[in-house]
Amino acid sequence: MELVEVQKDGGVATVVVNRPDKLNALNGAVIFELIETFQGLGGDEDVGAVILTGAGEKAFIAGADIGELANQGVLDGKDNARHGQRLTTVIENLPKPVLAAINGYALGGGLEMALACDLRYASSNARLGLPEVSLGIIPGYGGTQRLPRLLGSGRALEMILTGDPLKAEEAAAIGLVNGVFAPSELLAGVRTVADKILSRGRTAVALAKQAVRRGIHLPMAEGLELESDLFGMVSSTEEMREGMSAFLEKRKPQW
Ligand code: COA
Repeated sequence: MELVEVQKDGGVATVVVNRPDKLNALNGAVIFELIETFQGLGGDEDVGAVILTGAGEKAFIAGADIGELANQGVLDGKDNARHGQRLTTVIENLPKPVLAAINGYALGGGLEMALACDLRYASSNARLGLPEVSLGIIPGYGGTQRLPRLLGSGRALEMILTGDPLKAEEAAAIGLVNGVFAPSELLAGVRTVADKILSRGRTAVALAKQAVRRGIHLPMAEGLELESDLFGMVSSTEEMREGMSAFLEKRKPQW
């Protein structure tokens, strides 16, 4: 891997998009490497959570590579969107939590990558937006579908139709990011959240993610059915027995 770096430490893998001279813009090669990386991490038993960030101090990911998109026609345009969508879907469906550490510009495909993550934290200097319409295109890596599901169509359409980016604090105020850190504290702050999740039951975390991720696309009755199926699955695990007995043991009367 040349354009994507992975650092593993204590159950957390940090994936760094490493193209800082182009503000980590997503060309076809970066997308391909990211798909391979995330697929590998999905099956890696030593990894319980993943952090996604960008190399350098300016950008998380400044979008799809405009140089590559500039000459596309209908068919390769559709293929480009499918390639990016495949990546965001792999991230969204990863059987472990993925946290975005947004360390600067998250524009276009960069914000769409962050939207596929389970949790998003931004540095105070970050700018988040979908500026595609100002380039004469539309978001193509899932942004038109995931942003309204996260924010509602009113806020999402405002961002998509104007193309104006938001500052980190504005993004936090509308729930686009879960929290904001000073730039020098971003990675440590996100790591603290990842460690907290890692300290919980790993199967429970995976199935809770699955319940939310799959359930959001279902009518309520089917979502509840899914929830009870998954609840049944966690109810038979060693992890549950250990978690429950540790809790009950601690609270045994001491007389
Ligand atoms: N695709 C390809 N290259 C990109 C890029 C993108 N999305 N975003 C930035 N770059 C490149 C620039 O071309 C420049 O490369 P160069 O030094 O070889 O010319 C380098 O990254 C640095 O960018 P630069 O524009 O000089 O930095 P800046 O601080 O002046 O501006 C941005 C930063 C993010 C405001 C600006 O780069 C920008 O608007 N990028 C495009 C964002 C966008 O529209 N993304 C959605 C694409 S669908």
